[in-house]
Parts: sequence; structure tokens; C-alpha cells
Amino acid sequence: MANGKALKLWTVNVISFVLFVILCGTGLINWLVLPRGYQARGNFLVSLRHFFITLHEWVGVVFIVLIIIHIVMHWAYIKSNLKKYGLMK
Ligand code: HEM
Repeated sequence: MANGKALKLWTVNVISFVLFVILCGTGLINWLVLPRGYQARGNFLVSLRHFFITLHEWVGVVFIVLIIIHIVMHWAYIKSNLKKYGLMK
């Protein structure tokens, strides 16, 4: 693989991993740790929850875009495998 492409792919992969860790963190903390609705009654944790939801959603959008870029960058490899296993002409 050309060096420039390898560096781009590496960058996409590292950023994807960091975003994945943020998604896991914000998703699991909101689900399992922070109080919901009435339980929290207007304290700081509600704001934190809202912040995490927004962060989770936007990081999710960027993550999806990076995964699409990742797939596009591997498209030749994916296509050759699909052909090899008879899933594509
Ligand atoms: C493309 C990636 C992802 C997208 C687009 C996405 C999107 C969302 C959305 C829209 C919600 C609902 C948030 C709300 O309450 O309004 C949610 C909740 C949640 N997500 Fe994700 N997510 C992604 C990846 C992940 C990953 C990798 C994890 C790994 C642990 C995760 C764990 C959770 C959990 C546990 C909840 C529930 C939070 C709660 O019950 O309060 N998500 N996600």
C-alpha cells in the first residue's frame, strides 16, 4: 500500500477508535450511572446527562462518516473478496 494511503488509513482508524471509546463511555455512563428524570430533580447530573447525550449523538454521526470512509478506502479489497467468494461478478 502506498505510504500516503497507509497514513490516511491509520489516521482514520486511530480517530475511529478514540470516537468509539467516547461512544462507549458516554453511552454506558448515561445508561448505568447517571440518574434519570425525576430521580435527578434538576441537579447538576441532569445537565451532565444532557451534555453526554448530545456528545454521544454527534460523536456517533462523525463515527458513522469515518466508518464509511474506512470502507471506501478498503473497497478494492472488499470487492476482490466478494468476487473470490462468488458474492459479486
Ligand atoms: C454510530 C454509533 C452510535 C450512534 C449513532 C449511537 C446513537 C445513540 C442514540 C441516538 C442514543 C439515544 C440517546 C438519547 O437518549 O437520546 C444512544 C443511547 C445509548 N448508546 Fe449509543 N450510539 C452509538 C454507539 C454506541 C456505542 C459504541 C455504545 C457502546 C457502549 C453505545 C451505547 C449506548 C447506550 C448504553 C445508550 C443508552 C443510554 C441511556 O439509556 O441513557 N452507543 N445511542
